[in-house]
Amino acid sequence: MKGRGVKLSIGSTVFRNRVFLASGPAGYGTEYADFIRLDRLGGVVTKTITLRPRAGNLGRRLWETNAGLLNSIGLENVGAKAFFAEKLSALAAAGGRPVVSLGAEDWDDYCGLLDAASACTAADVFEINLSCPNVERGGMAVGSDCGLLGKYVRRAVETLEGKTIIAKLTPNVSDVAALAAAAAEAGAHALTAINTVVGAELCPGLRAPVFRRVRAGLSGPAILPVALDAVWKIARAVDIPVIGAGGISSVEDAEKFFAAGASAVQVGTAIFYDPGLPERIAAALAKKGVPGVIGAKSQSREG
Ligand SMILES: Cc1cc2nc3c(=O)[nH]c(=O)nc-3n(C[C@H](O)[C@H](O)[C@H](O)COP(=O)(O)O)c2cc1C
Repeated sequence: MKGRGVKLSIGSTVFRNRVFLASGPAGYGTEYADFIRLDRLGGVVTKTITLRPRAGNLGRRLWETNAGLLNSIGLENVGAKAFFAEKLSALAAAGGRPVVSLGAEDWDDYCGLLDAASACTAADVFEINLSCPNVERGGMAVGSDCGLLGKYVRRAVETLEGKTIIAKLTPNVSDVAALAAAAAEAGAHALTAINTVVGAELCPGLRAPVFRRVRAGLSGPAILPVALDAVWKIARAVDIPVIGAGGISSVEDAEKFFAAGASAVQVGTAIFYDPGLPERIAAALAKKGVPGVIGAKSQSREG
């Protein structure tokens, strides 16, 4: 298969390569600056930022499974004001190319957050998180409805005119391709697939669920096939770049996403135990080229 170039263009942005840190595990990015050469990656997606600070969910937040990790963080973050004033510049100073993840519980908060984001000239690439399974309102509830998803994406494209908008999709739906099409139709420049897969776990001894909210988000190797299936379907349903995420724990896993139709990849859970992986993937792509898409009529679909 003929390889694609390593550089990546999405909207008005050119990224130095096609490997990103996924939203969440790396926090605001700076937490990993001592372990990962951030300047060797295409970008760092920050943990999701909300209009106001959030304390996150009560009780246990992480639980390892045989082949993955369940989390119930609940979008803990410092809020837009502190993020745009302090965290964003710190990430850029550490060499990371920021991609700011945005999330909201309701429409009014969402519009306020977009206004705050548009006022920050230093932020020019946004990933709209319409897929979090760990909050009562917003998140996955919005991202599961084509009409609502389109409305939220359209608002981001309008308010953040001239900036690059990526919509992040949930796999916890019956037709992820339809949601992808709705986001593309609303003007998203790219799509990220997938966020975590909803799951539950019971404490040893079966006395109670592990998590207070019972349900949590599964990530890591267990979800790789789910993510590949989603990317395969989405890449054949839309003409905008797809960024594959979910269960990448080796260079070969990343190559599978490109072959399935992704234009870039994100690494999340694996950085907890293998922080060198994103850089190794970037180095392998630079050396071997980016794998072409299986079954693609041409390799011209860039992104
Ligand atoms: C601890 C943790 C926190 C996460 N926080 C966020 C978040 O704030 N926003 C978001 O869009 N995704 C979040 N995610 C989901 C990841 O970005 C990613 O979509 C998912 O974990 C699948 O990739 P992985 O298997 O490589 O981790 C989080 C995942 C984990 C494990």
